[in-house]
This record gives sequence, structure tokens and C-alpha cells, in this order.
Amino acid sequence: MAHDEYETIKVSTEDAIGTITLSRPKALNALNDKVMEEVVAAAEVMDADPAVRAIIITGDGPKAFAAGADIKEMSTLTYSEAFHKQLGARLGRLADVRKPTIAAVAGYALGGGCELAMLADILIAADTAVFGQPEVTLGVIPGLGGTQRLVRAVGKAKAMEVVLGGARLTAEQAERAGLAARVVPAAELMAEARALAGRIAAASAPAVAKAKDCVLRALETPLAEGLRYEQREFWSCFALQDQKEGMAAFIEKRKPVIQDK
Ligand code: CAA
Repeated sequence: MAHDEYETIKVSTEDAIGTITLSRPKALNALNDKVMEEVVAAAEVMDADPAVRAIIITGDGPKAFAAGADIKEMSTLTYSEAFHKQLGARLGRLADVRKPTIAAVAGYALGGGCELAMLADILIAADTAVFGQPEVTLGVIPGLGGTQRLVRAVGKAKAMEVVLGGARLTAEQAERAGLAARVVPAAELMAEARALAGRIAAASAPAVAKAKDCVLRALETPLAEGLRYEQREFWSCFALQDQKEGMAAFIEKRKPVIQDK
């Protein structure tokens, strides 16, 4: 899909950083089928584009990152329709993107919005961010990974309070609980996200991809297996030209010339 064909998102690429902006401000960037389809399509295009080295996902406007899956679109769905269309499943493909993803969250990140933010590798929160999983108040449960990723991020006690009790987390609470990596003033959110993406973009892409893969694997494997996996990936880095150059540059007190090889 060409960049200008998207209807519900804006995309741009600058300085090796791809940015995907959810853009349905009148609906607080609620995730309807089209948004989910386009976010994943754009991320997959950027993942395949050598000009992009890190991807930022954010929301248009100060009020919401995304206020959840689109309730109006879902309200009349039958079980059969949800089952056959695999409601929400496509968004999960974001987890397969190899390049690092950063969620830059300002305002509401509720329901599917919180789940989308958690799908990213790193979550940076503006001091205006509000996180929550209010699905049970609508007679459903989180369906885009909320019951699984939130508990891994913040532990059972907080996750249960949020998922069952409708508790909302402020940006500061989200940072304390381990959901957000950092809280920044809202006006500086995108600059901070870009600075972080820029630091990632400057490093060796294969090393970054290996590091991301290893960290994500830690969520799914026993420690001993994860450590064995990490060692193999670590050793394989010594086949990279970037390792030779990176270490030589350090020793020679100069900047490395990264070649992604
Ligand atoms: N879906 C569809 N439309 C939504 C929406 C959503 N999730 N959230 C907000 N909107 C729409 C509102 O309907 C409203 O549209 P209209 O002007 O046409 O009425 C517009 O966005 C502005 O919203 P509000 O008037 O409600 O704004 P507010 O400032 O009073 O409240 C809010 C903001 C607290 C975020 C409130 O909008 C809200 O509670 N939204 C729903 C949050 C929610 O329950 N999310 C979970 C969805 S279910 C889900 O995500 C399931 C899943 O895991 C996959």
C-alpha cells in the first residue's frame, strides 16, 4: 500500500525513523478494522524498507493515543462474525516486526489502545497518558493481548486491579509499575521518542534485531533456555563486520562506520 493510500493513519520517514500516527481524532483514534489493518500494513512496509531503522507509533492529537477498539463497529457483532473475521488478530502481527518499535503515548491509552502500546518494544509516556483496560464494563475482555502483556509488564496484582477493577494508571504509575520506560512532558514526547529512535538507528541493525529478539524471548522461555539462546546469538555477533568495526572504532577512539553486515 502506498503511503498516501492510508485513510486512518499518517506515515512519514525521516532520518531513518518511520512514524505511524493513528489519525481518527474525532473518535479518539479508536481502533476500527481499517486502523488495525493500516497500522500493521505500514509497519510491515517499514520493516521491509532498508531506509527505516526504528518505528514510532503514536496518536494524533493531545487527547488520545487510542481510546480502544472501536466500540461502535463492534457493538452488533455476533460470536460467529468475531470468530470468522478473527477480530483483532491482525494487530498482533505487529509483534512480528523485526525492527524496534516505540509507542509514544499521550492522553488515553485504553482497551485496545493500551494493548497497542504494549505491543511496542518500548513505551514512552507523556505526563498526560492514562492507561486502562475497561473492557469488562462493556461486557467483554481485553482481546488484543491485554490480559497477557499487562500481567507480564506490571505483575498480577496491578494487572488484576486494572483488568477486573477498571483502575486507570497515570503515566507516573505506569512508569513505576514497569509499563512505561519513561515519562516525559507532553510537549517533549515526540522529540524524546525521536531521540531514542535515533540512538537505536545509529547502532548495527543486525545487533539491534538480535538484542530485541533475545529480550522478547525472555518472556516466553525458561531462564536456562533463554540464556543458552542469548549465548548463541551473542557468539554469532562475532560473524558481523559491525562487531569488528565497532570494537576497532572504540579502541581507536573514533566513531564506528556501521554497515549492517
Ligand atoms: N470506540 C468508538 N468511539 C469512541 C471510542 C471507542 N473506543 N472512544 C471514544 N469514542 C468516540 C466517542 O463515541 C465520541 O464520539 P461522538 O462525538 O461521535 O459521540 C468521541 O470519541 C469522543 O469521546 P467522548 O465524548 O466519550 O470523550 P470524553 O472526553 O468524554 O471521554 C474517554 C474520553 C474516557 C476515553 C471515553 O471516550 C471512553 O471511555 N471511551 C471508551 C474507552 C473504552 O472503553 N475502551 C475499550 C474499548 S473495547 C476494546 O478495546 C476491546 C479490546 O481489547 C480489543
